[in-house]
Amino acid sequence: MSEHNTVMQNFIKALQYYKEENWLLPVLNSLCIDLRILAGQVDAYSSPSDSSAHKTNSTIKPREALEKAADVMMTCFRICSSDNRSSEYETKRWGMLPIVNQLFKLYFRTNRLHLMKPLIRAIDSSPLKDKFDLSQQITYRYYVGRKAMFDSEYALANENLTFAFVRCHKACTRNKRMILIYLVPLRIFLGYLPTKTALEKYDLLQLWEVSQAVRHGDAKKLSEAIETHQEFFIKNGIYLILERLRIVTYRNLFKKVYLLEKQPVVPLQDLLAALRLVDREDTTLEEANCILANLIHQGKIKGYISHSHQKVHGYHFRKHKDKKYFGVYEYHRPTLVLNDLDLVEHVLVKDFSSFANHPRWVIDESSYLNQMTLNLRGNLWRATRHVEYQFLEHFPKLAAWSGMSLFSKKIDKTMRETSRALLSGCGATSEFRSLIEGIKSDGVLRMKGKDFDINGNEEADHVFESMRIHSVKPFLFREATRDYTFPGTDLKIKTGEKVVIPAISFQMDPQHYPEPEKFKPERWSEDARPKSKFTWLPFGEGPRQCLGMRFSIMEMKLVLGKLLTEFEMTISPRTAMPAGHVTLGIVGRLDRPVYDQGVPKHNTKGLFQERECGLEVNKFFRRRSSHDTLGLFDESWAVLDE
Ligand code: HEM
Repeated sequence: MSEHNTVMQNFIKALQYYKEENWLLPVLNSLCIDLRILAGQVDAYSSPSDSSAHKTNSTIKPREALEKAADVMMTCFRICSSDNRSSEYETKRWGMLPIVNQLFKLYFRTNRLHLMKPLIRAIDSSPLKDKFDLSQQITYRYYVGRKAMFDSEYALANENLTFAFVRCHKACTRNKRMILIYLVPLRIFLGYLPTKTALEKYDLLQLWEVSQAVRHGDAKKLSEAIETHQEFFIKNGIYLILERLRIVTYRNLFKKVYLLEKQPVVPLQDLLAALRLVDREDTTLEEANCILANLIHQGKIKGYISHSHQKVHGYHFRKHKDKKYFGVYEYHRPTLVLNDLDLVEHVLVKDFSSFANHPRWVIDESSYLNQMTLNLRGNLWRATRHVEYQFLEHFPKLAAWSGMSLFSKKIDKTMRETSRALLSGCGATSEFRSLIEGIKSDGVLRMKGKDFDINGNEEADHVFESMRIHSVKPFLFREATRDYTFPGTDLKIKTGEKVVIPAISFQMDPQHYPEPEKFKPERWSEDARPKSKFTWLPFGEGPRQCLGMRFSIMEMKLVLGKLLTEFEMTISPRTAMPAGHVTLGIVGRLDRPVYDQGVPKHNTKGLFQERECGLEVNKFFRRRSSHDTLGLFDESWAVLDE
């Protein structure tokens, strides 16, 4: 050890001597690896658990060798990270990440994870962050992910471990397995369950029983599974993390009870009975209360406990389903939610002048987004909308005039002017999912022996039905521009207050659309379609209706037509079905990837061999879709009933 230290000291001098050169870095890397291995061996020798230490009367304290090695490496790291003068090609900063990785290994071994923080900050802020050697990046992400797991930063852990797993070469099965040891429990915690085949492939069946216990809400089985493989879990440092899955198990158990009761108010006694059945028979009501309070506090159940009635109440819109309207507070802002189609019609169309604005969603006044039509008000909105309308109306002529090149220089100026309009819409259009739905119902989607007709009703029905189920903007918003009383009611709203129209509620209401979850384009036939136009609002309605509606529908029909005339579309077996839930951003997005594949009909270029829209890792994790329509539970959670 002391010889190696001397070598290191001399090497550090050489490193400092060659100021603007970095050819020594590969040697530095090897020396650091050797130092860590050597320090590990010395530590094992001097560890009190090792009886030979006493025999040899070692003077080195446990962990001392590892800590000293870390100090030497830290000196090397500082030399590398402070080399700001030389060019990117010659800088010693390329040596930072390999040293950091060695340091991480030492810190994990000596249990000093807090020392990782400044190193992570240094790497994350480095301009070379994504340019380092991929293998070093993977190691780095693996340790950062593990640290985030210990710090309960699950999203960060997921991001890093997923990166490490996906980018790790498929031939490195051992490394992939090491990553999965942490990624699997983490994913279970986040609501994704692993498939048995994947666990078998990586020899991780110990986690299968755990995942099944969590899935079925069976706390007793979870304890048994953890106990059976205790040694493996402790050795790999995931024992405590698996213990945290207990809360998810309780959550799944309570959801089962809730689904059985089929009502949003669940008596505490029923939850207690369930707990006694699958956990301890002597569980007390206080313990049940405590578990529930924890679940609510952690946001795993959306509701509250009524101690006076000994019941758990869920929060959800459906509770107010029979009411024409109800109010909620968005922080301090009173917000009116409308459940009644007549009231909706007043807001969107009949009394539009009293609800002419969208509530502001861009806070920064100077932001470019603030100039989006959606955010404009008063005369500026009217004028802009008019210009954009004219543009869209004359778009085909413009395109023809410019030689069909959409981004041709001739119309570039006009495009810039109107890009706001397109910007608002292109994201939404890209979320077109009618394809998936069509495939889902038949297994294969193909043109049934006829040419595609852009004006055809069948094609339009597909689009309408898809947009009904997968609305990218499930809610519409308006702001009262003056004090207003709804006709025929005593319902009053003041200037500046917000109105929410839960469009998706109407679109999924069995009253308007029987069997609303099913994809049935035939319900759009002339005689079957719903009577009120306010039950289908993917593009809004009235003077502030989406400006790109006709354009988007045409675009979607075109894409559908092009695909159907050229390919037979099927869903790749890699896609977990059902196709996922919409999560909200500026526009809604599917919360997991869809892979589809097309077999060319005429085209032999193999254009659509397989389109990947997501990460490889997802094929290992099957997500349960939620059948919970009452809204008590967070949608992103694994569900038990299949
Ligand atoms: C599938 C595609 C699209 C969907 C689902 C969609 C949906 C919507 C919705 C729900 C609104 C709010 C309507 C309201 O509050 O009543 C909106 C507004 C708007 N959309 Fe779209 N949109 C899509 C594509 C487009 C495209 C392609 C464009 C541009 C060419 C566009 C331009 C606009 C504009 C300018 C507004 C603001 C209207 C105003 O405030 O006056 N949209 N869109």
